[in-house]
Amino acid sequence: MKLVVNGQPHEVDAPADMPLLWVLRDILGMTGTKFGCGLAQCGACTVHLDGQAIRSCVMPAVAAAGKSVTTIEGLSSDGSHPVQRAWQELDVVQCGYCQSGQIMSAAALIAQKPSPSDADIDAAMAGNLCRCGTYQRIRGAVHRAAELASKEGGHVA
Ligand code: FES
Ligand code: FES
Repeated sequence: MKLVVNGQPHEVDAPADMPLLWVLRDILGMTGTKFGCGLAQCGACTVHLDGQAIRSCVMPAVAAAGKSVTTIEGLSSDGSHPVQRAWQELDVVQCGYCQSGQIMSAAALIAQKPSPSDADIDAAMAGNLCRCGTYQRIRGAVHRAAELASKEGGHVA
């Protein structure tokens, strides 16, 4: 199957029902996206498919053919995406395991809603679990990311 990941075309030899997460991690070697539950229950595997946050553990890779996949590795080349900078500024991360999924959900949210309310954030992030309980800092960092993005003309990848 032909996939476009982070702007790069890839031709992948994989069973049609292989989840996108497996293709990203095991075939393409992009291990920034994490496996948590494998059941669309935790959000650790969140990536963007044509700009929408999706759970790559339950998405057959073939369903991504012809669409644009963005992973944490492709959000920015240098960690400069407003969400990544806000995460650093507010020191959100604890163990880190859930955080690439959190960041991808947050990036999709502010791309769609440039000035999200607390309720918007809670709704958009509800499927991303954090066993370390970083939820307060995540909420603060989403607000900060929205602020940074709006100062920079609202551009979010
Ligand atoms: S690993 Fe995909 S939602 Fe948990
Ligand atoms: S930072 Fe440890 S699970 Fe979220």
